[in-house]
This record gives sequence, C-alpha cells and structure tokens, in this order.
Amino acid sequence: MSLTNITILAIESSCDDTAVSIIKNEKILSNVVANQKVHELYGGVVPELASRAHQANIVPVVDAALKKANIQLNELNAIAFTQNPGLIGSLMVGCSFAKSLAQTLNIPLIAVNHMQAHVLAHFIDEPKPTFPFLCLTVSGGHTQIAVFKNYFESEVIGKTIDDAAGEAFDKAAKMLSLPYPGGPLIDQYAQQGNVVYEFAKPNIPELDYSFSGLKTSFLYFLKNEKAKNENFINDNRDNLCASIQNSIVSHLMKKLILASKQTGITNIALAGGVSANSELRKAIENAGKKYHWKTFIPAFEYCTDNAAMIAMTAHYKYLNNEFVNLEIAPSAR
Ligand code: KG4
Ligand code: ZN
Repeated sequence: MSLTNITILAIESSCDDTAVSIIKNEKILSNVVANQKVHELYGGVVPELASRAHQANIVPVVDAALKKANIQLNELNAIAFTQNPGLIGSLMVGCSFAKSLAQTLNIPLIAVNHMQAHVLAHFIDEPKPTFPFLCLTVSGGHTQIAVFKNYFESEVIGKTIDDAAGEAFDKAAKMLSLPYPGGPLIDQYAQQGNVVYEFAKPNIPELDYSFSGLKTSFLYFLKNEKAKNENFINDNRDNLCASIQNSIVSHLMKKLILASKQTGITNIALAGGVSANSELRKAIENAGKKYHWKTFIPAFEYCTDNAAMIAMTAHYKYLNNEFVNLEIAPSAR
C-alpha cells in the first residue's frame, strides 16, 4: 500500500453527536455532524436516547461524508473510530459499525482516544503548533492541562477534581432556566451584559481545577436574590451570564498562566467544546500578548465534537502502524 495515498473514514460517537469525516493524505475532505435535538427536552444527554439516535444516524451520516468527499468505499485504506472516553452505549454504536465496515472492506481498523483527538485537531489547519506545547482541553466531560511532547506522547499536569468547565457552564445555564447545552447561550447573552456579580473563587492548589464550589455559590446567590425579587433572573439574565462566564474563564486562565510559568512552555493551545467560548478565546489572545505566547485555537467546527479530529489522529496512527484487531471494545473511561 502506498504511503502517499492514505484515505481514512473516521467515526465519532462518544456523546450525543454522530459524526463522520473522510481524510486523504492529511487533508479533510468532509466533516459531517448530525446533532441530536432530543436531549434538549431533558436538560442533558440521556444515554439510552443517544445510542438509539446514533443507530438511526450512522448510515446516513457515513453516506453523506462519502458523497461530500467524492470517495467510494473501495478507495478507503482504513476505518477509524472513537474508542474512549464517552458514553458506553454511544461508543458501542460507532465501534461496531467501524468494525463491520473494516471487516467487509478487508482494511485495517484504528482506535482513537477522544481527548487526544481534540488536541490533534490543531494539526488540521495552519498554523500548527510546534512541540512541546501546552494544551488546555475544556469540554463537557473534561478539563485538563497537558504537555504535548510529540503527536503521541503527552503528560497531564493539571485536571479538574470535580466538574468539567463545560459542565459548569451547562449547570449554571440550567439554574438560569436556559435549555441544554447552555454554554453557547451563556456566551451569547454575556456579550450584552456586564460583570457585576462575584461568586466564591475556587481555591484549589497547583494546576488542578474545581468548579463545584463556584456552582454552589452561584446557586445560593440566585436563591437569595430570588427570595427578594422573583423576577431576578429574568431582569438580570445578561449580567448573570457575563458574571458566571467571567468566573469560569478567570479560573481556567489562572491555572493555564501558572502552567506556562512552571513549565517554561509558551506554545499554548486550546481544545474542546468550551474553546468555542468567545471570552475564553479573547482571554487567551490577551494573555498571549502579555506573556509572549504563541497561541493556537482551532476553527470553530473543529472545537466542538467532530470526526475530523478523529480522522487527523487516525492519519498519524496509520503512519505509525497503530492498528487494532476486531477484538477491540470501547471503554467509557
Ligand atoms: O467537546 P464538546 O463538544 O463535547 C464533549 O466532549 O464534552 O463540548 C461540549 C461542551 C458543552 O458543555 C457546551 O456547553 C460547551 O462545550 N460549549 C460552550 C460553548 N460552546 C460549547 N461553553 C461555553 N461557551 C461556548 N460558546
Ligand atoms: Zn469532546
């Protein structure tokens, strides 16, 4: 098989988005995502409904990705899928589909870690970070700072001990009666508001994060204010959004700045769904100017869950001969 022509179909199904991407020689040819609206009704992702929706979506999404890329099944050199972490039922749908496709086409199978893929999304477009770099990965399930030494070697130097940053955004949004996922709505409303309220500052040593105290502080603040004025949330929605967003972003930035100081690394990357947050993006750019960082933030479509990042990671794994056999199983952690 020629190494100059590698075409891979990649599947991402770790949570509530069914996504498929085709990559040919480091170039993303298609990146299709089917979102699942059903969870909005429940204020969060319902695992059983997510796996059922993946089952319904996977064939049309694979089809759409192949058509958009103008690639036939017989042109594929490998099939990749997200193996971990995620919701086990959701992962199983992508894994089983990838296995049967690889077996049918008699081509290799590549298993990808979702978190590593969020980071390698930085290598889809220019400018690409140079090693070593620090990556702050912030999503609905994870919040961590890691040092990346090369494509495959990384060390987590700080992580959340309770909620993830995306979870903090979504839970705060729920307290404000905003629909799930509330992170993007907080971002949107915050742009019309001002930071006027302060909540308990997380107090956690070293490079770790904690969001549960902030969440409780926000909850009690709202309870107190609502006892005085039952329309408090409606009357102050934009300022509340700006204030809670500011608290979350300040906490994220404080540890990232500390991590850069401690490691001496000034190549700074941002990954995960929360990297779509406009205040966080601004804060990283501003810190970049102040501390002479080189900053790397992927395009919006590669920040939230997508299969292009799985495809990019699979491309490097293909070059590294990292294949798995059909016995492979997904894992939640
Ligand atoms: O990476 P991702 O798409 O899925 C996970 O792997 O978790 O991240 C989803 C998370 C959700 O919590 C969502 O509310 C948050 O990212 N998010 C945002 C924004 N866009 C997405 N949070 C704050 N501001 C945004 N603009
Ligand atoms: Zn993710």
